[in-house]
Amino acid sequence: MSENKPASGCPMHATAPAGDAEWHGAQMDFSNKMSYGDYLGLEKILHAQHPLSPNHNEMLFIVQHQTSELWMKLMLHEMRAVRIHLRAGDLPPAFKMLARVARIMDQLVHAWDVLATMTPPEYTAIRPYLGASSGFQSYQYREIEFILGNKNAALLNVHAGTPEFPLLEESLNTPSLYAEAIHLLARHGLPISAERLNADPALPTVADASVQQAWLQVYGDTTRYWALYELAEKLVDMETAFRFWRFRHVTTVERIIGFKTGTGGTAGVSYLRKMLDVVLFPELFALRTEL
Ligand code: HEM
Repeated sequence: MSENKPASGCPMHATAPAGDAEWHGAQMDFSNKMSYGDYLGLEKILHAQHPLSPNHNEMLFIVQHQTSELWMKLMLHEMRAVRIHLRAGDLPPAFKMLARVARIMDQLVHAWDVLATMTPPEYTAIRPYLGASSGFQSYQYREIEFILGNKNAALLNVHAGTPEFPLLEESLNTPSLYAEAIHLLARHGLPISAERLNADPALPTVADASVQQAWLQVYGDTTRYWALYELAEKLVDMETAFRFWRFRHVTTVERIIGFKTGTGGTAGVSYLRKMLDVVLFPELFALRTEL
């Protein structure tokens, strides 16, 4: 049983009745120790939900977005490290992290099932309280897109003047994770065009014939290029999971708001459908027709 020492002479700390505070040897007194909530900062996280409407369902809307942002935070942590490992040619840790990123994305894909329990009238009741706020302004999502190579300088404008702007701008100007993979192909002696190797990192990935040929060589001689082959398949896993996320987003949005415009100002579903056409690693998908 833990002692109930008055921490500061305050009688409130000494009031737990002795004898009732025992449970399988578990620690009960955290007046002088770090607790679970302290370590995780739960004081902040669990008090960061502030519904603006009187509607019961707004809590779901908030928690769904906040948990997605937390998973995105972990994804970015892993992806930035993957990029560093690829640059160093250190593939085993990169593979481990890429596998984790794909699983996080799977989790985010399944998370849409929870949001899909929100009906159109439930959303309509909270929409006026959302103002112009929209996931479109998620700077973490934008950084994920930039790291994957879907660069778009115009989208930085949304974040002008915010504390996140410098980080996002740096991400726009840093070679994507996929660009690092292409440089790795070149370092393995596979011929990559100078145009692709020297491409402006702030521009979106453009399919390149030499890159497709290089990946074809990798897929054609897996014994020789096993590590690059594994990298290619991990990238395909990641893009596939990302496509599923986009698809579940647009179908859930259509189910909830139909064809109304988005709070962020776009046409809504038709905008999100266009985003489904974005291909992050074009050569890795194009080559499949030739295999
Ligand atoms: C009822 C729930 C939701 C609705 C109705 C909805 C609707 C929309 C719409 C219409 C857009 C296009 C931009 C705009 O005009 O607003 C958008 C973008 C976006 N939403 Fe959602 N969304 C919902 C939930 C979520 C959730 C839970 C997330 C998770 C973080 C999310 C993340 C995003 C992101 C990242 C974008 C930008 C996509 C891009 O630019 O490609 N949304 N959303």
